[in-house]
Amino acid sequence: MKIAVIGTGGLVGSAVMRRWNSLPFSEEGVFSERLDELFGFDLPEFDAASRISTDGLVSFRPDVILNLASINLPDWLETHPNTARTIHVQGAANLRRAALRTGALLVQVGCGEVFYHEEDAPPHSEDNVPDPQSVYAITKLDAERAASEYDRHLIVRTSALFGEPGAQGTGNLVDTLLKAVRRTREIKVLNDTRVSLTAADDLVGALRFLIHAGKTGLYHVAPPDSVTPAEAAAFLLDACGLRSHRIVGITTEEYGGKAPRSRSTALDASRYRALPGSHPIPGWQEALRRFLDRRAQGSAPPLAKKED
Ligand SMILES: NC(=O)c1ccc[n+]([C@@H]2O[C@H](COP(=O)([O-])OP(=O)(O)OC[C@H]3O[C@@H](n4cnc5c(N)ncnc54)[C@H](OP(=O)(O)O)[C@@H]3O)[C@@H](O)[C@H]2O)c1
Repeated sequence: MKIAVIGTGGLVGSAVMRRWNSLPFSEEGVFSERLDELFGFDLPEFDAASRISTDGLVSFRPDVILNLASINLPDWLETHPNTARTIHVQGAANLRRAALRTGALLVQVGCGEVFYHEEDAPPHSEDNVPDPQSVYAITKLDAERAASEYDRHLIVRTSALFGEPGAQGTGNLVDTLLKAVRRTREIKVLNDTRVSLTAADDLVGALRFLIHAGKTGLYHVAPPDSVTPAEAAAFLLDACGLRSHRIVGITTEEYGGKAPRSRSTALDASRYRALPGSHPIPGWQEALRRFLDRRAQGSAPPLAKKED
């Protein structure tokens, strides 16, 4: 399969380019022999918001267009709504046009922020009605809608990703925490929001599975459990032996960002998990442990120095 990957400098895009053809498949191993051809595109050479860029994809005759181009800065986007709309919505519409012209499957990655709650809420399934409040969430939902105007679309929502930073050095919960560890011993982390903490590599496995299985429509990809950022941060400190550091839980109000923040962006991925042979998405603790083990084995930058 020929796959055009848009947004390869980011967290997920770089994991796709690194891991796509080497991830193990599930027990059935049905796709294990199939190698895909990946073509990566990102700013500044390729701009999803420009028709000139996206129309250029047609000459590649891709079987799949995987859209990972995004700006994941909700507070900044609150004061830059036009940028959010151009990149998220216009970008998805341009890629839909390219997909239509080539007959490619259009894969759009979305987020749990499309669900808004002022109180804790159970994980959201695909059947729950989205209620986005921030500019980021509204434009991400509109991007999903733009993609879904084309029959051959696959929308995959996920939540709170972590992994090796992309070429652009984009941060995520784990790296942000590990940077904070170097600056201070008292680290303030949100304790009143629940997320589905998901390893970027697992999302890549799920995307590959869904694409090869010929799935279309909407799927949530997330672990079977949810966690607050403060709980995940405390687990990381403990796992790294950083005993003189302390997590100080703070509320969304105390954090005081510009964007309205949902108290729960956790996703219910039962529909995905029920698919035979789907790439397994482990619970957040197992996923974090595996990530730390890989770092310890030297396949990633080292952690802060361990304390006695
Ligand atoms: N990270 C998370 O926790 C999380 C959670 C839920 C869902 N998601 C979704 O997962 C997808 C991938 O996210 P990510 O974490 O990999 O994001 P990321 O690390 O911020 O990467 C996004 C990439 O897209 C590029 N990009 C931005 N505008 C573009 C444009 N107009 N044309 C081409 N490329 C463009 C960015 O380039 P620049 O860096 O140069 O701007 C960057 O390389 C997104 O749809 C996101 O909403 C992410």
